[in-house]
Amino acid sequence: MKPKYYLTTPIYYVNAAPHIGHTYTTIAADAIKRFKQMQGYEVVLTTGTDEHGQKIERAAEAAGKTPQQFADVVAEEFRKQWEILGLSIDRFSRTSTPEHAEVVQRLFQLCLNAGYIYKGSYTGQYCVFDELYVSDAKPGDPCPECGRPTETVTEENYFFKLSAFQQRLEEFHEKNPDFVQPETRRNEVLAFLRKGLTDLSISRTTIKWGIPLPVAGNHVFYVWFDALTTYMSAVEGQTSTAGEPLWPADLHLIGKEILRFHAIYWPAFLMAAGLPLPKKLFAHGWLLFENEKMSKSRGNLVRATPIIKVLGADPLRYFLLREVVFGQDGSFSYDALVGRYNSDLANGLGNLSSRTLSMIRQYRQGVVPQPAIAEPPLAQPARDAISSAVQAFDRLDFSRGLEAIWGLISAADKYIVEQAPWKLAKQGEEARTQLDTVLYSAAEVLRIATTLLIPILPQTAERIWLQLGMPDAIDSVTLQGLDWGQLLPGQRIGEPAALFPRVDLQEAVDKLWQLEAEEKAYQARLLGQPEAPPPAPGAKAEEGVMQPIAEPISIDDFGKVDLRVGLVKSAERVKGADKLLHLYVDIGEAQPRSIVAGIALAYQPEQLVGRKVVIVANLQPRKLRGIESNGMIVAASLEGGKPVLAGFLEDVPVGARLK
Ligand code: ME8
Ligand code: MG
Repeated sequence: MKPKYYLTTPIYYVNAAPHIGHTYTTIAADAIKRFKQMQGYEVVLTTGTDEHGQKIERAAEAAGKTPQQFADVVAEEFRKQWEILGLSIDRFSRTSTPEHAEVVQRLFQLCLNAGYIYKGSYTGQYCVFDELYVSDAKPGDPCPECGRPTETVTEENYFFKLSAFQQRLEEFHEKNPDFVQPETRRNEVLAFLRKGLTDLSISRTTIKWGIPLPVAGNHVFYVWFDALTTYMSAVEGQTSTAGEPLWPADLHLIGKEILRFHAIYWPAFLMAAGLPLPKKLFAHGWLLFENEKMSKSRGNLVRATPIIKVLGADPLRYFLLREVVFGQDGSFSYDALVGRYNSDLANGLGNLSSRTLSMIRQYRQGVVPQPAIAEPPLAQPARDAISSAVQAFDRLDFSRGLEAIWGLISAADKYIVEQAPWKLAKQGEEARTQLDTVLYSAAEVLRIATTLLIPILPQTAERIWLQLGMPDAIDSVTLQGLDWGQLLPGQRIGEPAALFPRVDLQEAVDKLWQLEAEEKAYQARLLGQPEAPPPAPGAKAEEGVMQPIAEPISIDDFGKVDLRVGLVKSAERVKGADKLLHLYVDIGEAQPRSIVAGIALAYQPEQLVGRKVVIVANLQPRKLRGIESNGMIVAASLEGGKPVLAGFLEDVPVGARLK
């Protein structure tokens, strides 16, 4: 009987439709599931949606829907997103179901009976957006997470005695040094603990859209007590085939911004209730876009659907798990995505597969030959790659694992080129055994790489499996099949077909931006939102709240910045980028400068031509959307990111320096 492995993703808020940040975590979870299955576990993977709370109440109201109707629509989008990605989800949990409410109420009752819940009154500075109280803040102080102003809130709350768990949590984290992964994240948790824990408000009377407390009808549960309990309610009463209870979870996979709730609150709730704790947390990093976290509040995110349409689900999985070191932050860009598609998938794996299979057809009538020697030159590199990749995947170090596999693919390519089977084939009998060895080796590397790639590229692996004519079903393949020499000579290969047709970089990137704009508009319509990104909640109240002044610099530092008066000669929109304008600006040099500026949502191109602006003239040039940008236009940045260009009341000559 197989041991069970219960794995979770966060449950995502329904105040926004799915974006690639959510996709990232859920794809990683799916890859982990498939890898654990290959290790022999019976794996249960759950995800779902977090549907209660003020943010969702507000979003629903803005869309003219009840919170339940609104949540139904968005939850369905998430479910469909995982379906079109082909993810192997065992249960999709929603916090607005009666089954979940019952478990939350029961957990509360257990905590109450054990004496860890009390009623109190609380006044504090509260950030509606991040749903947290900011300790030690004065009225109007900005939220440390998002910078929005906090609101003063006083209410009667039920509290959870988090402070009573200070010592037990410290001991727990000390005794279980592997509980929080990666190591750097664990240090954050320890530092937070060291600052001392205060009790936690877990109910609200100001919100209607939530699960009622079993003790007081006008109180509903506040976000984290409700949300975290999903991990238990999702598998309530369930066991594995062998009869092992699924709870506790073996791994909670999360993004790093919700680590504290998972590493401190959640274990404390469970300790209070006398329930078993999860085995492990892994907090991965953020996908960044131009060095900022992609997020719904910044509006700088992309969606997975256009990528699936243009390149497919597997290339997206490959890119996310290969490009970003799991645990660290990493950048996302369509250029890098399409670049890797062509170099690693089309030219790397795709090419090895098509060339190997077509040579076996051409030179051996489609039958895998018997190698002439027991230890061909690729055998040891293959064993090394297997051991590196398996160890790396086991640590959730996907990028390392993939590096090892691609190292083997390149070694096989190099070997084929050196051996030149097309020449051996012409040399007659004396080269026959050597050609057998080369063809067998190439096919065996392909089988091994494919086996290792089952968790990462499940659809592609299945295609290669069939093309190789493997006799066993791919679903039954385990890590046991990973040794050199298990490919059986005499096996007849299947029908070869191209896996990853090469794409033109610029065309694909343009297509992606175009489909992305359509998908964004679709989601906005679906959620009943205006097409432009909505202003941050409470944006009005933010007037007069200033961003902190930057660190002092010397006059010399300032002197390094060369600011010039420029005259806009021409302006046009950048295709596929709704925020960007491409300008030519005269600053008194021989030629006007090409500058790409993120001001298209605030200015029409026609408004700018003939206008004097301020340019940072000595910035390193860079390329945006393939267009050179040699300088930056100075603008005031208003809340919500709206730019207002700096200008002059008196006339100033072009090229004059500002100091
Ligand atoms: O926090 N990069 O939901 P949420 C990487 N409902 N991952 C990202 C990301 C990015 N830029 N953006 C989002 C919540 N994610 C709560 C969780 S759990 C009991 C309750 C992923 O909709 C990442 O997994 O804000 C992150 O933790 C999660 O989405 C947050 O989703
Ligand atoms: Mg979030």
